[in-house]
Amino acid sequence: MEETKHIYPIFDRMLTRRDKETLLGQRGVMVWFTGLSGSGKSTVAIAVERELHRRGLLCRILDGDNIRTGINNNLGFSEADRVENIRRIAEVGKLFVDTGIITLAAFISPTNSLREMAERIIGEADFKEVYVSTPLAVCEQRDVKGLYAKARRGEIKDFTGVSAPFEVPVRPALAIDTSVLSLEESVEKVLELILNHK
Ligand code: ADX
Repeated sequence: MEETKHIYPIFDRMLTRRDKETLLGQRGVMVWFTGLSGSGKSTVAIAVERELHRRGLLCRILDGDNIRTGINNNLGFSEADRVENIRRIAEVGKLFVDTGIITLAAFISPTNSLREMAERIIGEADFKEVYVSTPLAVCEQRDVKGLYAKARRGEIKDFTGVSAPFEVPVRPALAIDTSVLSLEESVEKVLELILNHK
């Protein structure tokens, strides 16, 4: 049987990531922020997004506010749920990267195996791990959402840094301690990482 051909040959070829990157004039990349709750992951990501936008670059933030309230609103903080949380985030993130979009994911992702899974899904070449290394004592003192106090009182179980582990990343592309660096300094470092990605 004869193969069906489109009238316009160009319809035979699905557009590629490169086509989209050319359209946007940028390269897709995943910047994966890991660190304790309150370490400053989302704050830095939001400021980086603003700066990229100002420079005419398209960016997407994935964080608890838009993921744990939506696609992952059926997940909690057990080990199995954290795996599923990160797996879905990485799969969604990959779609953005494949569209040429600079993607910033801000999740605790507390273990090496979780972060390795994310890297495997996205692909090593496009995965930049940024460890927001702000110490626990500082995060706990900030306690923006009052969750550390609750965790210490035993009202939240498996709370990262208190009653659940956080493994320090082995070889992050970048480490930033927001109790030492200003927001501008942190943004500068992340931008450098993104703009050097070819
Ligand atoms: S992750 O471990 O699965 O990567 P994620 O980044 O999505 O975590 O969500 C962390 C946020 O959820 C924290 O900043 C905090 O506001 C909230 N949270 C609620 N319960 C917990 C818990 N048991 N451990 C850590 N964070 C929690």
